[in-house]
Amino acid sequence: MQLVNGFKLMDYAKENGLVLTAFNTTNYELTAGIIRGYQEKGLGGYIAISSSNLKLSNPKIIADMVKSAMKEASVPVALHLDHGKSFEDVKACIEAGFTSIMVDASHLPFEENIEEVRRTVEYCHFYGIPVEAELGAIGGKEDDHISEEDAKTNPEDVKEFVERTSCDLLAVSIGNVHGMDLTPNLDFPLLEKIAARSSVPLVLHGGSGIPFDQVRRAKQQNLIKVNYGSDLRQAFIRTFGQAYERNHNEFDIMSLSKLAIDNVEDRVKAIITEVNEK
Ligand code: G3H
Ligand code: ZN
Repeated sequence: MQLVNGFKLMDYAKENGLVLTAFNTTNYELTAGIIRGYQEKGLGGYIAISSSNLKLSNPKIIADMVKSAMKEASVPVALHLDHGKSFEDVKACIEAGFTSIMVDASHLPFEENIEEVRRTVEYCHFYGIPVEAELGAIGGKEDDHISEEDAKTNPEDVKEFVERTSCDLLAVSIGNVHGMDLTPNLDFPLLEKIAARSSVPLVLHGGSGIPFDQVRRAKQQNLIKVNYGSDLRQAFIRTFGQAYERNHNEFDIMSLSKLAIDNVEDRVKAIITEVNEK
């Protein structure tokens, strides 16, 4: 199946009452495990790669790899730029065939965030691609990006931000953090205020480690997407780490890579089940 357009995927989520998962990839094994997980569960979602992670490869390599992994799949999957850090990255990803974009200008002052998102939206909408933006800052570590800042989204800014940027999804900071080091506790009164003021659906970053009952509870507040990165990376790395611990002379990269794909697939299936089927 071809990659689906991000707007179509959002419609699919609304029609089926789903919170879409977005799983971050880095390499072939993660990609194969993610797509197999979606296929086995019979549910679609996002596969994403962050701007920082694109330094390891480039948008075309990632798009080609994901498109080829999708050839035998029959569930709708959109390829998403996660935490898009520059207009150049956005353009390169659209050109490579990405079907959904996030621009992350949340580190900038309010007016500059609006300006950066607005010009990205203008560009992406021309190609019929939806744009996710972030208001407030999410703390923790993502790829090589470490943010000490953890500024919760100010609900009073939400309406103006969404209206002036014309973004299609809004990523919020409500106690969610990137990485596995901290145990997040979502601020539900704040989420309710944000949801009441946002005309577009909401996105939760830092999914790894958030108790699933909290993710399901957030679904009542117009949540459409929840992002998972570290959880799958851990499953991948653990596969090789455990093999090395068992045998310091281990060199069977083929078998271990296949096992890593299985382990990533298992985490994908478990997360999808927790988010949408309980
Ligand atoms: O944008 C990606 C996610 O927010 C990943 O966060 O590594 O805590 O799951 P996580
Ligand atoms: Zn994130």
